Amino acid sequence: MNVTAPIALRINPDIDPETHPYISTGLRKHKFGIPIENALEYYRVAKGLENIELIGVHKHIGSQITKITPFVDALQRILVLIESLKAEGINLRYLDIGGGLGIQYKDESPPHPKELARKLLPLLRGQDITIIVEPGRSIAGNAGILLTKVLYLKKGEDREFVIVDAGMNDLMRPTLYDAYHHILPVRKNRRRMIVADIVGPVCESGDFLAREREINSVQHGDCLAVMSAGAYGFSMSSNYNSRPRPAEVLVRDGEHYIIRKRETYRDLVRGEIIPDFLDK
Ligand SMILES: Cc1ncc(COP(=O)(O)O)c(C=O)c1O
Repeated sequence: MNVTAPIALRINPDIDPETHPYISTGLRKHKFGIPIENALEYYRVAKGLENIELIGVHKHIGSQITKITPFVDALQRILVLIESLKAEGINLRYLDIGGGLGIQYKDESPPHPKELARKLLPLLRGQDITIIVEPGRSIAGNAGILLTKVLYLKKGEDREFVIVDAGMNDLMRPTLYDAYHHILPVRKNRRRMIVADIVGPVCESGDFLAREREINSVQHGDCLAVMSAGAYGFSMSSNYNSRPRPAEVLVRDGEHYIIRKRETYRDLVRGEIIPDFLDK
């Protein structure tokens, strides 16, 4: 095509981010990136390709990381690689250090972004390279709340269930990672505390937002706020069980704005194509 593609290689630095295994991406056993010990070899090959311009290096070791050390260790390894590349005449323009900084869902105490920067900047000083960061969760996670209504209360043999109108299709994290989200009644009340499973209406026992959770006794129609739902919430949602997704509402200075319409049943079948042989 007669074009030159500027590229960066994603390197797997083999660092344990000490987070949930499903969101850990920077160990040798993970599918991501080129093993750091093979990186030089790949860069050499790429350097010899006519239509490739080598401009960067990328790493991302995982998500919901609550310690600084894995970021520092991974960066140090990448910096050693950058030096080896320089020695071979490969001078990169971009160093993408990925995202991954964690947030507080329950009792985690992740470093503030400034604290992370304070630890990383001295390592980067003197590098003539543009740094790229890819934070996701730490920007959006605690900015979002999932609101849900109580549909029914059910006293099971074994435990109480609060059945709400949001399910695993709306917020997948509890089901997928056994993740914790605070759940609060929208209107404060002084009702007695109960311990209950807060579950959705989907046809799976994995359809829960919280298990064995202490919460103010709720009633049909009460509204609950599922906190910290701003990252990996809507973007991981689905129409499973033929459930249209909720609206998204932006709140700013006491005003609210609908920024994504509530889905309808028509949306569920939009895009489906019925082949002629079925459309008789
Ligand atoms: C390559 C890459 N960069 C950035 C991110 C964002 O991560 P986080 O939301 O943990 O900051 C991800 C998340 O999976 C990712 O895969």
